[in-house]
Amino acid sequence: MIIRTAEFHVSNSDPAKCPEPVKPEYAFIGRSNVGKSSLINMLLERKNLARTSATPGKTRLINHFIINAEWYLVDLPGYGYARISKKEREKWELMIRKYFLKRPNLVNTFILVDARIEPKKADIEFINWFGQEQLPFSVVFTKADKLTANQLASNVADFKAKLSETWEELPSTVITSAETGEGRGELLSLISKGNEA
Ligand code: GTP
Ligand code: MG
Repeated sequence: MIIRTAEFHVSNSDPAKCPEPVKPEYAFIGRSNVGKSSLINMLLERKNLARTSATPGKTRLINHFIINAEWYLVDLPGYGYARISKKEREKWELMIRKYFLKRPNLVNTFILVDARIEPKKADIEFINWFGQEQLPFSVVFTKADKLTANQLASNVADFKAKLSETWEELPSTVITSAETGEGRGELLSLISKGNEA
């Protein structure tokens, strides 16, 4: 897929106010600071369309981008950010639940996990919730450039082993780096296939 146009469309705190669900949609979520915004910029070949930051917890709203006037890409606020209040965490949960459970046009969600570290409780909990709700998703490993091939393979295997404690069928996985562009073609071809279906 060639990205001809990629534009910011709208930000919402209320999922009910998201755009009419008339175009195929793909969501990106993961722990705060996992590299969601960086991956989105890499995917779309836009420098800072999705705001990136060294400060975790930067993305707080549901951000819709419209791509090729054809499909929506959604940058969601991350989970597992330690420095937020219980109240804010509950607000996030409510917003995220509402969004995922009421988005009929959502084709796939890319759940991002940091390739450098062992499976985190917050990641496993989120993935398990997704599985329970029978929502379609892929697991995307980020920051692959920071690891050797051996470390990477070992961490991916550990993550899959952790998931297979709970799930018989494992999700598709994609290894990516916003630095090198690794995984870009694979992600775009998953999205192309979803748009055709
Ligand atoms: P929040 O919106 O704050 O939750 O963060 P985010 O998940 O959108 O992460 P963001 O893209 O802002 O990246 C967080 C930090 O990780 C930044 O300092 C990025 O430069 C760095 N980073 C993101 N992706 C990569 C990558 O593929 N490789 C390397 N080396 N660094 C990355
Ligand atoms: Mg972000």
